[in-house]
Amino acid sequence: MSQPQPRRTIRELPDVLISQIAAGEVIERPASVVRELVDNALDAGARHITLRLLGGGIRLISVEDDGCGIPVEELPVALKRHATSKIVSLEDLESVATMGFRGEALAAVNSVSDMSLLSRTEGAATAFLLDGQTGEVRPAARAVGTTVEVKELFFSTPARRHFLKSENTELAHCIEAVRRHALVRAEVSFAIWHEGKIVEQWRSHPGEAGWNQRLADVLGEDFVTSSVNIDFRSGPVHVRGRAGTPDAARARADQQFAYVNGRFVRDKVITHGARSAYEDVLHGQRQPVYVLYLQMDPTRVDVNVHPTKIEVRFRDSREVHQAMRHAIERALAVPRAQLISGSDNIRPQSATPDMSFLSPTPSAPSTQSTWSQRGMAFGTDRSAEDPAKAMADLKALWGNTQQVEERAPGFAQGIAAGASKQLPQAHTAHEWPLGRAIAQLQGVYILAENSQGLIVVDMHAAHERIVYERLKQQLGTTQINSQPLLIPASFAATPQEMNTAENCTAVLQQLGLEVSALSAKTLAVRAVPTSLAQGDAVELARSVLAELAQHDAATVVQRAQNEILATMACHGAVRANRKLTLDEMNALLRQMEDTERSDQCNHGRPTWRQVSMRELDALFLRGR
Ligand SMILES: Nc1ncnc2c1ncn2[C@@H]1O[C@H](COP(=O)(O)OP(=O)(O)OP(=O)(O)O)[C@@H](O)[C@H]1O
Ligand SMILES: [Mg+2]
Repeated sequence: MSQPQPRRTIRELPDVLISQIAAGEVIERPASVVRELVDNALDAGARHITLRLLGGGIRLISVEDDGCGIPVEELPVALKRHATSKIVSLEDLESVATMGFRGEALAAVNSVSDMSLLSRTEGAATAFLLDGQTGEVRPAARAVGTTVEVKELFFSTPARRHFLKSENTELAHCIEAVRRHALVRAEVSFAIWHEGKIVEQWRSHPGEAGWNQRLADVLGEDFVTSSVNIDFRSGPVHVRGRAGTPDAARARADQQFAYVNGRFVRDKVITHGARSAYEDVLHGQRQPVYVLYLQMDPTRVDVNVHPTKIEVRFRDSREVHQAMRHAIERALAVPRAQLISGSDNIRPQSATPDMSFLSPTPSAPSTQSTWSQRGMAFGTDRSAEDPAKAMADLKALWGNTQQVEERAPGFAQGIAAGASKQLPQAHTAHEWPLGRAIAQLQGVYILAENSQGLIVVDMHAAHERIVYERLKQQLGTTQINSQPLLIPASFAATPQEMNTAENCTAVLQQLGLEVSALSAKTLAVRAVPTSLAQGDAVELARSVLAELAQHDAATVVQRAQNEILATMACHGAVRANRKLTLDEMNALLRQMEDTERSDQCNHGRPTWRQVSMRELDALFLRGR
């Protein structure tokens, strides 16, 4: 993040340098003015920034800061085009650490509004006010810092004023402009006033811890609680920040904030890299949420490609794409259950309400038995400490994954063995993030108890994810096993399907499919993936052909393969209405804790939810 440099004199840039700076319109609407003025305040080292607006910023934008101020003799220079204190040479431009560097903003604003600059530097006897229209300078009262007032934006260019939207819309854009700054500068306080009323106020939060607080202030508590921390280095790129879990995704892409060396950017490489990290867990049009800060050597990124500096160009976009993708992917892969167990908001066990008055024996040995005695445990608990019995139960459970077994021998046993190692022991019931199974509800949900309250697991969805992740791991890069069909399935194909089938034989083969032409308009499916042999071969072939036609063959293999695996997993996963024993349920919970991305099923829906004691208490109006 940019640190204020010792202040230099404002000078006009040499012509050669001017010609190298991305030129173009910088002021489109009030929010562009706000962005430029807040940039300047931050560059001046401000700790408190106050924005006052009238009429959505169209009638007045005033930005007050407590930064270093502008010496009186430089006030008129500040309004000149290509006059800046931030760079003097091309080398400076290549490693620029300030928000500004063009010396363009104030001149541009001054040319389309009625503007004034009021500023005072440390040690000056008074402040000075510069009238942007007349160029007149006179002493005035003010503490150290600067106030820039911009009145009647576009007053002399009615055509441009005409393009502005309603005051409310322009106000929203102005707030958004400050929000982008606020998310990256937690140590600075911001206040926004509109028509004399305060509309946003974000207090300063110094230090690392304060930063989460700032995110919560600006984006809401929900953003923080439903996102994971990111701190990931990949070559020269360091990615930090927070990325939302898939269930925090939104219909619009309005909570995607990316910064490069402290500068807010809109960049396709970054957006795409982030999106691809969610490929496996977010389906449809849902938009992930994130606030991510990329740090890299300034020479690896060109900030001088767009007049408003909102776009950048990376020296190596691949490295940035990869860094984004891997940073988010890794962070999301950690099952949230693990994160919960490590967090300090766990309800202490003693806070669990005492239910013993419900039980016939005065001191129930554990909450488990308390629940049992109330007749709420539907499973059998008799083998909780008998690994051999549990193993047998598990084998029975995973018997449903027969197809999976064919594909990846030893797979089911792997799960069973892995699970048996971690069989729950009564005295450690509270050590598992997803808790200890207490019942199965209507053959659909597993209910478990942990220190925070109740855990509800969608058993099919959870198992589907576990099977899918295991399959992906097992398959690695090898090709999918295929099985010839006794009778080839033929279908009337479109010209595009004919074409794709002919051009992509090798890719199809890799996916376990053999599709060839029977006639000029008919295709025949001759082989399908072994594990999908029971399914509709034509439907499968057509959807794969459609995918292939749309995408570049190199990426489709990976994606389509995952889709096929997902379909397999769905067939292989334990079905609803299957009665599970407590051991089976506990084994599933332990597997979830250990499986990457187990918080969502393959369709992006959550696999489990925590219902806290507080929520339960609220349901029963306890403690009111
Ligand atoms: N709030 C402020 N506090 C102190 N100095 C300021 C402030 N605003 C502007 N200045 C001075 O005025 C100069 C011109 O500002 P202007 O925004 O036009 O250009 P810039 O910030 O240098 O570059 P850019 O056009 O990229 O924003 C700055 O270089 C800075 O020295
Ligand atoms: Mg500037």
